[in-house]
Amino acid sequence: MHIAFAASECVPFAKTGGLADVVGALPPELARLGHQVTVYLPLYASVHPYLISPWKYAVRSITIPFESYNRFVGIVDGGQRNGVQYYFIDCPELFDRKELYGTKTGDYPDNAERFGLYCRAVLEATKQLGVPQVFHVHDWQAALIPVFLRTVYYLDPVLGNAGVVLTIHNAGYQGLFPPITTQRLLFPWEIFTMDRVEQYDNFNFLKGGVVYSDMLTTVSRKYAQEIQTPEFGEKLDDVLRKRAGDLRGILNGVDYSRWDPATDGNLAAHYSADNLAGKAGCRTDLLHAFGLETVKEFTPVIGIVSRFATQKGFDLVEKIAPQLVERDVAVVALGTGEPNYESFFREWAFRHPGQVAVQIRYDDALAHKIEAGSDIFLMPSRYEPCGLNQIYSLKYGAVPVVRATGGLDDTIEEWNAEKGTGTGFKFEDYTPEGLLTAIDHALAVYEDKKSWKKLMLNGMARNYSWEQPAREYAEVYEEVARRRA
Ligand code: ADP
Ligand code: GLC
Repeated sequence: MHIAFAASECVPFAKTGGLADVVGALPPELARLGHQVTVYLPLYASVHPYLISPWKYAVRSITIPFESYNRFVGIVDGGQRNGVQYYFIDCPELFDRKELYGTKTGDYPDNAERFGLYCRAVLEATKQLGVPQVFHVHDWQAALIPVFLRTVYYLDPVLGNAGVVLTIHNAGYQGLFPPITTQRLLFPWEIFTMDRVEQYDNFNFLKGGVVYSDMLTTVSRKYAQEIQTPEFGEKLDDVLRKRAGDLRGILNGVDYSRWDPATDGNLAAHYSADNLAGKAGCRTDLLHAFGLETVKEFTPVIGIVSRFATQKGFDLVEKIAPQLVERDVAVVALGTGEPNYESFFREWAFRHPGQVAVQIRYDDALAHKIEAGSDIFLMPSRYEPCGLNQIYSLKYGAVPVVRATGGLDDTIEEWNAEKGTGTGFKFEDYTPEGLLTAIDHALAVYEDKKSWKKLMLNGMARNYSWEQPAREYAEVYEEVARRRA
């Protein structure tokens, strides 16, 4: 089957979070299963190093009407990698920027045009380069593909029969714009109603995708349930409940060719479940990278790698910060995002030199070093559709302490001292006490070297490769194709 992926992020070309890891890893796995897979991405500034110069255009110019003028986009042929064909939508005025979605001062003001045009360009490109049986579109940035397909392109003889699967990686980001967006993107005003793309007087990209796609998926079973409730549905719970019969939860896999301490090229030493010795070298290397060389040998290191967003629960960390540093622990954090969390971490580190350290930036190699050098990995998320870092942590023997929500709940099993089972520590209630109790539990088990080793090895033995999830996605594509036929 031919599947065309449309997404705003993909490793190694452009990344702000887990979406990029998923869109980087799932297509090659589908190709291994024998499918034909094409990936369409915007040509951001970060893509340039991956393109052969001079660029090879697959299509030189496609006309995309917007408002009262036209944009002209090229489709750059990114070639084949691991059996997958990559194409880039070239529109320098909209995409040749350093950041993907905005700067420190806020989102780019033309995001509706940027991603509206991107969606239309993907449809137009496939008409020239090969219409897939199924479009697999990801998050709000690609969610207008089904809306265009079933409205403006409804009568198109070559596109008409293609199916669409929308994956919601995070319902907290929906792409909300003023009503006039309907007209600017040249949609008929009929679609601006509450049962289609309108959301309380806003044009909502993600809602459009939910309404017009053939099937929907999200990235864990628990989150698939959660988003149908007012607590987690981000005001889309009612439309999602209406589509419950077409919604599947498919847990993300992880790419062990990038995330395995036995082979990871970013590490000072290698290790595996059979021989843990190298982990000590990784810890020394990590402490050095954070200027924490004086941390004692048996002091547990707590690691954090995250977008600093409200979703991630760092308001809880802020509330327990004074108590946490009274314990015998060291904390290393890597992240960027909302200024209030950045300044919390900066100040916390400033007040506790030698115990707490933070680096405010995006650094892939350092993220790997943290997984390898930490004893405990902290993810106290308010909500978490899947979460990849805790799954990486399992493989790296950094025991996760997580909130029991979404994919965190699905992937981490509570430690059971009597049976010697489980892979980490969870807390239910979103409270500072809940988090501190879970950390204290972890610290108590850490004291007992034998139990701790068992706990680490339990996690390292878990397998979250993409093979099984890729098969589940293939079943969804088959079902969509069957329905369309
Ligand atoms: P989300 O997609 O919500 O950010 P995930 O846990 O699914 O959460 O994925 C986050 C991904 O982004 C992981 O691969 C993680 O290593 C990476 N990441 C997040 N922040 C940083 C950072 N500051 N530096 C390097 N990698 C980061
Ligand atoms: C989103 C979610 C995260 C998930 C990732 C990949 O960014 O916040 O939980 O792992 O997408 O699906």
